[in-house]
Amino acid sequence: MNQMKKEIQARYGSVVRHGVSSQLSRSIPAEIYTNEQLRNMPEELIKKSFPCGNPVLEANLKLGETVLDLACGAGLDCFLASPLVGERGWVYGLEFTKEMLEQAIGFRRRMKRKNVQFLHADMEQIPLAKSSVEVVMSNCGINLACDKQQVIDEITRVLKPQGRLVIADIITQGSIPDVMKQDPDAWTWCMGGACSWDSWLDMLSENYFDVKAFKRKDYQVELDKNQILKFEAVTITATRGD
Ligand SMILES: C[S@@+](CC[C@H](N)C(=O)[O-])C[C@H]1O[C@@H](n2cnc3c(N)ncnc32)[C@H](O)[C@@H]1O
Repeated sequence: MNQMKKEIQARYGSVVRHGVSSQLSRSIPAEIYTNEQLRNMPEELIKKSFPCGNPVLEANLKLGETVLDLACGAGLDCFLASPLVGERGWVYGLEFTKEMLEQAIGFRRRMKRKNVQFLHADMEQIPLAKSSVEVVMSNCGINLACDKQQVIDEITRVLKPQGRLVIADIITQGSIPDVMKQDPDAWTWCMGGACSWDSWLDMLSENYFDVKAFKRKDYQVELDKNQILKFEAVTITATRGD
C-alpha cells in the first residue's frame, strides 16, 4: 500500500477514536440529508458521517436491487439504502480504514440490518464478481483514491450492463498545487486528490452514457492572498453501457 493511503487511514482511524469538532460533525449531515432520512438514524452515526452529497436520494433505488457504497465510512448511506432495496435486495459497504469499518459493523448490529454487509477493502480492488451490482454509489470517497481510473475500471467491472453510478464528490475548478497534492491532510479532507469535471468526463466517456453532474455547493480555500482554490461539491450520475 502506498504511503498516502497509509496516511489517510491513520487520519480517519484517529477521527473514529478521537472525533472531530462537534460543530463540524453535526452541521454537515444536517444540511445535506432530509429530516425524513435522518429521523430514524442514531445521533452517533450522524455525527460520525462525512458526506458531501446525498447519493441515496438520487439513486432511485428499487426493491430487490444490489447496491455497493464505496468508501462508506460509518455506513449512513448503506443504512439509508437498506429499506429501499428491501429484504430481497442487498447493500455492500466497502471501506479500507479498519476503525471505520468496525464502527459500521457495530451500527449494523445495533440497527439489525440483515441486508447490509461491510467489506474491508480498497476501492481500487473491489472484492465482488463481474456484473454483480445494479448501483454503485459513493459519498465523498473517490477524491481520496490515489488511482481514480483504476476505481472507475473496477466499478465498470462490478456494475451490470445498464447499471447506475451515483457519486457525490468534490471536484476542483482549477489545478491543485503540487504542495497540496503531496499533503496528507489536504488529501484526507478531500482537496488534495480532487480532480476536475473534465477528468471525470474522460474517465467515464468510454463505458458510460447519460453522464450528468449537478452542483450542491461551492467552496473556496484561500492558500494566500494571491491564490484562491475553488472547489464544488457535485453529484455525478451515469449509466453503464452494455
Ligand atoms: C470523507 S469520508 C466519507 C465517508 C462516508 N462515505 C460518509 O459519507 O460518511 C471518506 C472515507 O473514505 C475512506 N477511504 C479513503 N480511501 C479509500 C480507499 N482507497 N478504499 C476504501 N475506502 C477509502 C476513508 O477511510 C473514509 O472513511
